[in-house]
Amino acid sequence: MQIIVTESYDEMSARAFDEISGLVQANPACVLGLATGTTPIGIYERLVGACASGALSFAHVTTFNLDEYCGLAPADKQSYRFFMDTHLFNHVDIDKGRTHVPAGDGVSDNTCTDYERMIKEAGGIDLQLLGLGHNGHIGFNEPCEFFPKETHEVSLAESTIQANSRLFDSIDDVPRSAITMGIGTIMAARKVVVVANGAGKAAIVKRAFTGPVTPEVPASILQFHPDAVVIVDAAAAAELAL
Ligand code: F6R
Repeated sequence: MQIIVTESYDEMSARAFDEISGLVQANPACVLGLATGTTPIGIYERLVGACASGALSFAHVTTFNLDEYCGLAPADKQSYRFFMDTHLFNHVDIDKGRTHVPAGDGVSDNTCTDYERMIKEAGGIDLQLLGLGHNGHIGFNEPCEFFPKETHEVSLAESTIQANSRLFDSIDDVPRSAITMGIGTIMAARKVVVVANGAGKAAIVKRAFTGPVTPEVPASILQFHPDAVVIVDAAAAAELAL
């Protein structure tokens, strides 16, 4: 695992952008795993800018998002599909038919197995972008007693509901469950890029990437990934002994 400490959020975003744009240029038909949340917004702004200037094309790229809230329709402003359309897909030359976000509304018995199958049929994920939850979650894999393997439905931890309520009118509006790729799905990606910024992430960055590997800190498993890059700003790196 490589840990890159940058000076600022902008520099963190630029380094992660370099990883993604470099892959898309080298392999225009690559498969990207994408994340929502506040952290990757600067990366998506850069990808949109590179596409607008003609430096990058998503015409042949396929994407799979990590997760989606249960019960929210794609048009719902709080859904992760809406987030991805708004921050990236609507502004680049991607074929929307190649963009995949788990179906949070109308979850059926096959929703999770279908998602796993589609990832495999696409050839697997070349690069998975991840944010880091304050409790160490990746996707919506919350701290628990084991590492969930494949895409599954999950009940959100109270701390995650609290953290995500900032984006809703009221905490009561935050869905209580979600569909998420499993830890096995994430670990199967050929490369993983984790981004984290701000002082609020400093303690979990230290625990996840320098502490023991345990499902109580789901991101800690990434220490065993053969090609994982963690890109943090100085504030998030504050507790690392580097
Ligand atoms: C988002 C996701 C989550 C976030 C994490 C950090 O698709 O899967 O694991 O990456 O909650 O969120 P932010 O970036 O808002 O701090």
